[in-house]
Amino acid sequence: MARKKIALIGAGMIGGTLAHIAAQKELGDVVLFDIAEGIPEGKGLDIAESSPIDGYDSRLKGTQDYKDIAGADVCIVTAGVARKPGMSRDDLLGINLKVMKSVGEGIKAHAPNALVICITNPLDAMVWALQKFSGLPENKVLGMAGILDSARFRYFLAEEFDVSVESVTAFVLGGHGDTMVPLVRYSTVAGIPLPDLVEMGWTSQDKIDAIVERTRKGGGEIVGLLKTGSAYYAPAASAIQMAESYIKDKKLVVPCAAKLSGQYGLKDLYVGVPIVLGADGCERIVEVKFNPDEKEMFDNSVAAVKELMEACVKLDPSLG
Ligand code: APR
Repeated sequence: MARKKIALIGAGMIGGTLAHIAAQKELGDVVLFDIAEGIPEGKGLDIAESSPIDGYDSRLKGTQDYKDIAGADVCIVTAGVARKPGMSRDDLLGINLKVMKSVGEGIKAHAPNALVICITNPLDAMVWALQKFSGLPENKVLGMAGILDSARFRYFLAEEFDVSVESVTAFVLGGHGDTMVPLVRYSTVAGIPLPDLVEMGWTSQDKIDAIVERTRKGGGEIVGLLKTGSAYYAPAASAIQMAESYIKDKKLVVPCAAKLSGQYGLKDLYVGVPIVLGADGCERIVEVKFNPDEKEMFDNSVAAVKELMEACVKLDPSLG
């Protein structure tokens, strides 16, 4: 059986990390595409030179030519610019929208059967635009945000409770911005919901509130520390989990930015919701029940996403 082919569109900080993890996990052969000459080639060669030590046989190739992504099974898109301190994800909109157009056309021409995972920010608007520009089926174009936001939430909770990160489950829904919705009621330690853990005296409501707030600003916390760019290890790990669930048809239930067609009373927009991710891409959207507070937070988050989509249409009326 031939190896799978993973195309990484953008070979910057996240792209390079994606290449390293994908190769180490032998998810397939890896093509790094970037407009910057030498960067994808250099990163590909450097990673390949580590393969005899770590013992994996994925091949890596760097390129500036879309022809090299031909027939890719998975395309992970990080092309564009990242945040610097003082910038919100939304500040990236104008530049990254143009990048999505060229990337969408490249994927449409050379890898129309791939699962496309978008990471470029502002995420929900960019994945929406990328799906339109590429013309690929909606179930095959997804955005990576919820797994990352949930991982941050899970990590902070595991620290608070001094338990394994593996014992903590969490869902963060909504748009990938400061309005995201960490769902406390659906977050658990070994199946015990957080509100019960507060009652059991494991933590206080104030501490949970502070963790929710830290989760919402998790990306900004990293930007503030790094100063020269944004997070890349955890975003890359999150997208690899999505790629793996697709390639192996694992049908993980994970929060992703998915195109809604009536679920949650919404249509024609991408927002973070739990999905079943298998060989058909987004196989099912899970509609969880919100209480009134959660519904209000979700609606706020959706309104922020819609605002960004409208800004995109102003910049590129072909999206309207
Ligand atoms: N086509 C292909 N690659 C491009 C294009 C393009 N049109 N425009 C820019 N790039 C490349 C850049 O040359 C750079 O190598 O995209 C890469 C982006 O890498 P970084 O600047 O290191 O950014 P990174 O940290 O990887 O984040 C990428 O993901 O999380 C989001 O907000 C983040 O939007 C940003 C994206």
